Amino acid sequence: MIAIYPGSFDPITFGHLDIIERGVQLFDRVIVAVLRNPNKNPLFSVQQRLEQIRHAVVHLPSVEVDSFDGLTVNYAQMRQAQVLLRGLRAVSDFEVELQMAHTNKTLSTQIETVFLATSNEYSFLSSSVVKEIARFGGSIEHLVPSHVAQELQQCYANKYPVSNQK
Ligand code: PNS
Repeated sequence: MIAIYPGSFDPITFGHLDIIERGVQLFDRVIVAVLRNPNKNPLFSVQQRLEQIRHAVVHLPSVEVDSFDGLTVNYAQMRQAQVLLRGLRAVSDFEVELQMAHTNKTLSTQIETVFLATSNEYSFLSSSVVKEIARFGGSIEHLVPSHVAQELQQCYANKYPVSNQK
């Protein structure tokens, strides 16, 4: 069975990686799919995010990394996937995720959404939290793979040089 793990991944965190690593135990193939979203203003380009994710999943041969635009269910059908995989961190996620799963079900009855509860240690973690910490020079090595941490630090060093911080 093929599962799509769709998301923004701006950038990938250990929370995402936790879902991917557990997803590969359940499905024959997991396709991590980065949404090309013109409405969002991401920190990293789609190309950068694809590279960051590919580097992070290099030890997982059944994982493919791709990008898509449009509806996730259409992409899933095109890739002959049966499942959309999503992580749930907290009750606050549940409301949004349930609405998304119901919406997707109305668009395609063939595709099931499967939720994995994020491991406890990552239940607070989001890409936004990581970016906020990195922006103010905090430690992020325990939150994202080291190559992503380096890119974040470089990115914010260029955007907010120390001399400009008040
Ligand atoms: O990482 P994110 O930003 O929480 O991921 C959200 C994502 C990409 C899964 C969701 O926005 C999505 O599926 N967008 C594609 C458009 C779509 O299919 N919309 C209908 C379902 S709400």
